[in-house]
Amino acid sequence: MTDIDIPAVVAITGASSGIGEATARHLAARGARVVIGARRTDRLEMLADELRADGAEVATAVLDVSRRADLDRLVQTAVDRFGRLDVLVSNAGVSALGPMADGDVDGWSAMIDVNLRGVLNGIAAAMPVFRSQGNGHFVTTVSTAGLKIVPEMAVYAATKNAVRTVMEALRQESTDGVIRTTSVSPGFVRTELSDSIADPDTRAWARSKMDAIGLDPDAVARAIAFAIEQPRDVEIGEIVIRPTVQD
Ligand SMILES: NC(=O)c1ccc[n+]([C@@H]2O[C@H](COP(=O)([O-])OP(=O)(O)OC[C@H]3O[C@@H](n4cnc5c(N)ncnc54)[C@H](OP(=O)(O)O)[C@@H]3O)[C@@H](O)[C@H]2O)c1
Repeated sequence: MTDIDIPAVVAITGASSGIGEATARHLAARGARVVIGARRTDRLEMLADELRADGAEVATAVLDVSRRADLDRLVQTAVDRFGRLDVLVSNAGVSALGPMADGDVDGWSAMIDVNLRGVLNGIAAAMPVFRSQGNGHFVTTVSTAGLKIVPEMAVYAATKNAVRTVMEALRQESTDGVIRTTSVSPGFVRTELSDSIADPDTRAWARSKMDAIGLDPDAVARAIAFAIEQPRDVEIGEIVIRPTVQD
């Protein structure tokens, strides 16, 4: 990885499936040491075993991003195992889509807790390490749902745009060259994200869109790698990556 102490240490939340898993695979194959975090231990351990069999250095951290202490533990795992943390990919997310009229307060709360609070918890946990090392990169997975506002994605898009706002302010507060920020906005990607939609019709619609036009998650992983691998004086602030046929 250009200009980063090789091999870089990258912690990834939501690494048990989809974009996070693909990112762990892609970065590990490129020589990064990875710390993979999520709630499903079995999926994390299977992925870790597979990556280690291919020669990668991998640590796991079972975590719920809505808990501040779990993010502290993720960062500490990187420092204990690999001596540093270069990049935090805050990718864990849920999408409790549905019309506002449904009043799905539990779903809205879950999205705020995971999609927004989870990213904030990561920033709070990694910032002291990044500052004491003199470098660090916050990468987060937001969404095109925040760029083209559509029905049934109101609160999901709101949480993603809140994160986008936080990342831009963080960028402006961090022009001393120590911290880089990148927000990656994917369109439809073929993952398990539709499983977190309670309403059966909306879930079936999202699943069919993902299956029909969704990107392979590796496409997003490659975009994340592109941002990470830039020289330290280059900050890729935003990446939008859609299926070519997405409207
Ligand atoms: N797929 C798309 O079309 C799409 C488009 C735009 C943006 N995104 C964003 O991309 C990110 C990754 O989603 P994906 O599409 O790859 O879906 P996914 O396959 O469902 O992956 C979501 C990941 O988040 C983890 N997660 C959920 N809640 C968590 C919690 N409380 N604590 C820790 N980890 C948690 C899940 O692991 P556990 O269940 O094991 O905890 C899983 O690893 C999300 O932020 C999503 O909003 C996806």
